[in-house]
Amino acid sequence: MRVLVIGGGGREHALAWKLKQSPRVNKVFVAPGNAGTVLEDGVQNIPITTIPDLVEFAKNESIKFTVVGPEAPLAAGIVDAFRFAGLKIFGPTKQVAQLEASKDYSKAFMGRHSIPTAAYATFSDPVEAHKYLDKKGAPIVIKADGLAAGKGVEVAMTLSSAHDEVDAMLISNSMGEAGAKILIEEFLEGEEVSFIVMADGDQILPLATSQDYKRLRDGDQGPNTGGMGAYSPAPIVTSELSARIISEVIDPVMRGMAEEGQHYTGFLYAGLMIGKGGSINVLEYNCRMGDPETQPIMLRLKSDLSILVEHAIDGTLDIVEAEWDHRAALGVVMAAHGYPELPRKGDIIYGLSELMSTDKPGKDFHVFQASTKMGGKDNKEIITAGGRVLCVTALGDNLEIAQHRAYEISDKIHFDGCQMRSDIGHLVISSKPREKSL
Ligand code: AMP
Ligand code: GLY
Repeated sequence: MRVLVIGGGGREHALAWKLKQSPRVNKVFVAPGNAGTVLEDGVQNIPITTIPDLVEFAKNESIKFTVVGPEAPLAAGIVDAFRFAGLKIFGPTKQVAQLEASKDYSKAFMGRHSIPTAAYATFSDPVEAHKYLDKKGAPIVIKADGLAAGKGVEVAMTLSSAHDEVDAMLISNSMGEAGAKILIEEFLEGEEVSFIVMADGDQILPLATSQDYKRLRDGDQGPNTGGMGAYSPAPIVTSELSARIISEVIDPVMRGMAEEGQHYTGFLYAGLMIGKGGSINVLEYNCRMGDPETQPIMLRLKSDLSILVEHAIDGTLDIVEAEWDHRAALGVVMAAHGYPELPRKGDIIYGLSELMSTDKPGKDFHVFQASTKMGGKDNKEIITAGGRVLCVTALGDNLEIAQHRAYEISDKIHFDGCQMRSDIGHLVISSKPREKSL
């Protein structure tokens, strides 16, 4: 069969790489893909980005099903358009994708369905927002309502930085339309966990647990980014916590959507803050896989992803199970100079082709590419093309070994201005082993 992946980041590289491993899949198209997807056997990039053109392509090429990577096409209604044309696609509808696309909608949904989350208020008037800040004090969190590629959140440790952020979003339009409305949210402390499931409208299939590192610099310092690294499993998520997350945070979305006349299909990602005493709070819902969480999760998935996706589309997730490599996987992001504010493009990446050569049995790593393209002399070099450039992902018998291996491989790759954290995994590797989690 032929399948289509929408998107061009590291997450889509990992999804395409995994789908192509299925003996049932002879070709994976990626729209638009990147310089890494081009290099995979049986994977082909297509330079199509508009929804009507993608629908046409899927029809003409007899695409068996489509998997959507990023949030923007979901929020723009790609699932509705494909379904209207009678094409199989895995993702939520435009209406359901509001759960991610509008934080105001998402918080109101959580309120309606008693899902635990931080207290908040919504503003578009800066005067009212400043008054509220003065009443609440710091630390406090300011969030743009709309989609901002992981950069629309300011965790303000002082009141003056909170006031500055309100002015930046509501007066200087630093986030454009996405920040025309903002949420001011209670600051939560704890450990962050990404909990991702596949949903078929009624039933769910939890994926392996994971954690990502959002801050740019070591020791969780610097600005928030889309994610600087991730690993799976997340030892903090014991089987008991996992069961609580499903009943307090995932099932209510499935039930709540159904009660509101919708059905949740697609990946559902809950970004959670786990408090010291074990409290669970939702920081956000995403209607897609995480990036970079997908990269370690796909490296650990032993089951055939194409089978899981087909069951999810057909509403039969209850009859499949996902099998996971017992080893841990850890991914380290190599980001461009200037990321996240103003990533520089065009730096030549050295050392990659040797590492990217086709998969051999027993290979314990994969370099997933994100913002890369062909360029340089004779268009033969791989160059940086945006913020997050690569995610070097490796397996190991435990997280420490996976971490060591990922950094060992990343040492072989160079580009000017590369930014990368040297401590991905520190939260678990420095602490005592905990009960095994999925
Ligand atoms: P979000 O896009 O809402 O997940 O926020 C991005 C990041 O900001 C999260 O991964 C957290 O690190 C941080 N964050 C968001 N909301 C809060 C909160 N209420 N308290 C503390 N940190 C937060
Ligand atoms: N890694 C965070 C996200 O994908 O939103």
